[in-house]
Amino acid sequence: MRMVVLGLGYLGATHAACMAELGHEVLGIEVVPEKRAQLAAGEVPFYEPGLPDLLKRHIDAGSLKVSGSYADAADFADVFFIAVGTPQKKGEYSADLSYVDSALEELVPLLTRDALILGKSTVPVGTALRLSERADELAKDVQVEIAWNPEFLREGFAVQDTLRPDRIVLGAFAGGTAEGTCREIYKSMIDAETPFIVTDPPTAELVKTAANAFLATKISFINAIAEVCDAAGADVAAIADAIGHDARIGRKFLNAGLGFGGGCLPKDIRAFMARAGELGAAEALSFLREVDNVNMRRRTRMVEVTREVCGGSLLGKRIAVLGAAFKPESDDVRDSPALNVAGQIQLQGASVSVYDPKAMDNSRKLFPTLDYATSAADACAAADAVLVLTEWQEFQILDPEALGQLVRQRNVIDGRMCLPSEAWIDAGWTYRV
Ligand code: UDX
Repeated sequence: MRMVVLGLGYLGATHAACMAELGHEVLGIEVVPEKRAQLAAGEVPFYEPGLPDLLKRHIDAGSLKVSGSYADAADFADVFFIAVGTPQKKGEYSADLSYVDSALEELVPLLTRDALILGKSTVPVGTALRLSERADELAKDVQVEIAWNPEFLREGFAVQDTLRPDRIVLGAFAGGTAEGTCREIYKSMIDAETPFIVTDPPTAELVKTAANAFLATKISFINAIAEVCDAAGADVAAIADAIGHDARIGRKFLNAGLGFGGGCLPKDIRAFMARAGELGAAEALSFLREVDNVNMRRRTRMVEVTREVCGGSLLGKRIAVLGAAFKPESDDVRDSPALNVAGQIQLQGASVSVYDPKAMDNSRKLFPTLDYATSAADACAAADAVLVLTEWQEFQILDPEALGQLVRQRNVIDGRMCLPSEAWIDAGWTYRV
């Protein structure tokens, strides 16, 4: 089937390449010229394992094309995916829908045949209905159907999550073509017994927000338990393992530490609270404010522990920060807990040297005043404390004895509880979590 993907960021580029992999003919629309040029040359402008090979193969084969023109998009196909960003509005909790709105405003007046627009971006409940009404106003003698088909991919596993999703969710208005078209688009997955859940649009929009709110709550739950463990001298990782054996609870997303960041969970729970408020249901989600608070406290606590191991003041200290991406196998630094902590420590008078295997360029753009090292060892030179803030494999296998030779003080803070603590303690390090 021919289809268009509007927006080629983390979500759109992955979706476009994966749709080509499923055998479809895909045109991706990207309005930022530099990104477009890179993608058209078969290069991925961000780090996502497995995506460069897939994208290059389909660009070379011609099954995936890239353009900046909405006129090309309107010509190319009758099925369109909206995959543009929905960031948090500046100074507000709600989502900024201006990219979604402008995709619709630009595309619909150009349509000369009936079309189906499938939203993939995470949006506040009610968006599909609003867009559907707006599309009716904008359409010139054609029928434009809007439906929502939320995406659940994780960065770092984006290709496998798109090609082998846990479930496909579609929110469609009654009497439309969306279900039939999606059954065709995702035929191989549905044939392979991937659950295909068809609902109305508000339900599908809420499936996505509810899933992210649940994941954020699970992480903050274990981090709240970690606070009690700190006070009681108990081991939160052992508790996570023990409660995780209960199949009703499950061990996944119970890793305590520096908490969640990234371009999704933090802004999605805030947008969810804002939308619930607009709907008069603010009270129902008041616990999410506490989920957000617990999460943000992890960052402040990390700064406090660092100050403590440095003898009560960070002034003039040298701190090595290993990890800048919001999680491993990603170069994404949007709302990265690691960079947030690095910034706070620098503001308290320490010099901070940051190293990340993939996120150096993005970190420099966001926090140009931090020092950036060329390797983990380089970052640790003469450090008074080493902070591991993203659990890259490369940091988990560091040799504590060799690293100990480079630092000024053998203090390590394992912000992701990912190091073999005994090996570090045996090598004479003060190990903190
Ligand atoms: C998330 C959702 O998982 C995905 O389904 C949705 O589509 C987009 O948002 P992503 O942001 O890529 O995906 O990352 P995820 O793996 O969910 O991790 C989010 C954050 O939580 C990271 O900062 C990670 O370090 C943190 N995390 C995760 C924990 O602190 N503890 C855990 O146990 C798991």
